[in-house]
Amino acid sequence: IIGFVINGVCSSIEIVRWLHMKTKILKILRNADGFVSGQAICESLGVSRTAVWKVINQLKEEGYEFDAVSNKGYRIVNYPDILTKSEIESQLDKNDIIKKIVFFDETDSTNNRAKKAAEEGEESGTLFITECQTGGRGRRGKTWESPAGSGIWMSLLLRPDISPESASMLTLVLAVAMVDAINEEVQDAKCYVKWPNDIVLNNRKISGTLTEMSAEMDSIHYVVIGIGINVNTTDFDESIKDMATSIYLGTGKKVKRSNIIAAFSHSFKKYYEAFLKTQDLTYIVDRYNELLINKGRTVKAIYANKELVGEALGINKDGELIIKTEDGCETAIRAGEVSVRGLYGYV
Ligand code: BTN
Repeated sequence: IIGFVINGVCSSIEIVRWLHMKTKILKILRNADGFVSGQAICESLGVSRTAVWKVINQLKEEGYEFDAVSNKGYRIVNYPDILTKSEIESQLDKNDIIKKIVFFDETDSTNNRAKKAAEEGEESGTLFITECQTGGRGRRGKTWESPAGSGIWMSLLLRPDISPESASMLTLVLAVAMVDAINEEVQDAKCYVKWPNDIVLNNRKISGTLTEMSAEMDSIHYVVIGIGINVNTTDFDESIKDMATSIYLGTGKKVKRSNIIAAFSHSFKKYYEAFLKTQDLTYIVDRYNELLINKGRTVKAIYANKELVGEALGINKDGELIIKTEDGCETAIRAGEVSVRGLYGYV
């Protein structure tokens, strides 16, 4: 029995070590210009050739394709479109806001996972991500279609030292960072933001954000920002098919989902740090308004039992949308239980 227990413990430690090493090997190969010799990998990580060979085989099983030439070593020639911890982590930098990845093959909702972990003390900067959600949630109590293999369904846990009133602006910060990341990563993508935080391509929605928070009057325990992006999706439910699209449908380009997450992680750092300095959108408002699809268009804001129709002028530094009605009055509306639509459709 003792022997069995010891073996059991040893093998789980081994697994953790393998996972770590897999990320490191992937990072070395990803960043290399050409071939990397097995010997060079062994030396830089202080592991045996057999260990490297085992990891390369694991990677092959996951769908990475290699060129292996004797005396030269290995080179990755094709990356699979997967969202594993190693695949994402191998593209992140030490200083990124995303510090840790928790991956699920399937879960009900990554927001639920993130909130539960946050309650149990999980650290800020942890990203919860899944291939498929069985109970994906959207804003205002809607469901969010989250099929396997085609989208990004993820939730970022943050513990910002800001006042709870400022937290709603975080989703606008995130939207700008995500639009920049997608536009940079995907050739021909020209994404915009629909206030407050939908991302649109060809006037249709490709991404939405659901932010949930636990706070006291004057301090935040945690914020969970859940992001859904239709990346390579080709089919939508009848109920949303007139207003939804995906990066693939909008540009004709198939994109590796992990590349978008990495690009987002880099761009979010810049905007998030700027936001924390002032706890408002002082440094972001201009960029946001450049990307705001509603700007200059006639919109209808629907809240409680009221409707407000007018021209959207842009946001202010508190993230409120300024709507100018026909009588020349300007009203600032706050995100929350407000829905803003174009006069004749989604934008
Ligand atoms: C919206 O209604 O526009 C917001 C959609 C948010 C969907 C994402 S997918 C990952 C995270 N988990 C959820 O259950 N919802 C968010």
